[in-house]
Amino acid sequence: MSHATPQTGPLRHFLQFRDLTTDEINYIFARAKLIKDKFKRYEKHHTLHDRNLAMVFEKASTRTRVSFEAGMYQLGGSVIHLTTGDSQLGRSEPIEDTARVISRMVDLVMIRTFEQTRLERFAAHSRVPVINGLTNEFHPCQILADIFTFIEHLGPIQDKTVAWIGDANNMSYTWLQAAEMLGFQLHVSAPKGYELDSQRIDNPPASVLKQFPDPLEACRGAHLVTTDVWTSMGYETENDQRRRAFADWCVDGEMMAVADPSAIFMHCLPAHRGEEVTGEVIDGPQSVVWDEAENRLHVQKALMEFLLLGQIEG
Ligand code: CP
Ligand code: NVA
Repeated sequence: MSHATPQTGPLRHFLQFRDLTTDEINYIFARAKLIKDKFKRYEKHHTLHDRNLAMVFEKASTRTRVSFEAGMYQLGGSVIHLTTGDSQLGRSEPIEDTARVISRMVDLVMIRTFEQTRLERFAAHSRVPVINGLTNEFHPCQILADIFTFIEHLGPIQDKTVAWIGDANNMSYTWLQAAEMLGFQLHVSAPKGYELDSQRIDNPPASVLKQFPDPLEACRGAHLVTTDVWTSMGYETENDQRRRAFADWCVDGEMMAVADPSAIFMHCLPAHRGEEVTGEVIDGPQSVVWDEAENRLHVQKALMEFLLLGQIEG
């Protein structure tokens, strides 16, 4: 058995959060817990023995690379790491041709790239499941890890409140899909000009999304306060202008103080202390950012298993 192992069911991709059903997401959380517990006990878990993952990075990464690479080896498989610069993608080979070729040789592909449409074009020409490792529009693996972390610390997320402070970027749109599917409320506060694009969000009810001009008000009563860099990868030319626009969107002790007394803080990382979050908050007692980063490993192992094997036991 190797990379040529046929799929047991229809081809599944994870290009955005809602590509999974709510039941499947809950299965992945349960499975991630089992996988994490075994990992902590140093027990072997080789459900993807002999399978091969190709990772394609068109943007930089630390966590995504290490978590997918370590995760696949821990599942008994192996990994090929490609970047734009060291592959023919950097010399304009079409993404469709790249997908056709890579997916004849491996069992699974993870891509980090720019436009979601580029990821979709890859997936449309792939014979094997494709995972979104971050695009300009979404970061679904990160939100799987974040919600898994929330559940570990505070229990079920249903009916809870998540406050998103800062840029309405790939993370925030993915949080919104998760809120719709898992039944929690998302508060979003972004500076003028950087808010959620109404054309992309299809008018969600207030039970799902509330937007606040004042970040302090968005944090009031929240169970999770979370933020991200002011300038996402690919937008670096806007850096100076964003620094000025986001100056009041720094998560600080005052914001954490108006959140629920049990509130936790998350950041997908990398973080810039003194910009989107103070050192006091990210390094303080309410911060769970290191658990959040570690959980990328466990949820993605569960995700890779699910995409290749479906729902399994043991
Ligand atoms: N959070 C996250 O995706 O980190 P990397 O950019 O380091 O992969
Ligand atoms: N929003 C950030 C997340 C980095 C992990 C970016 O896209 O650069």
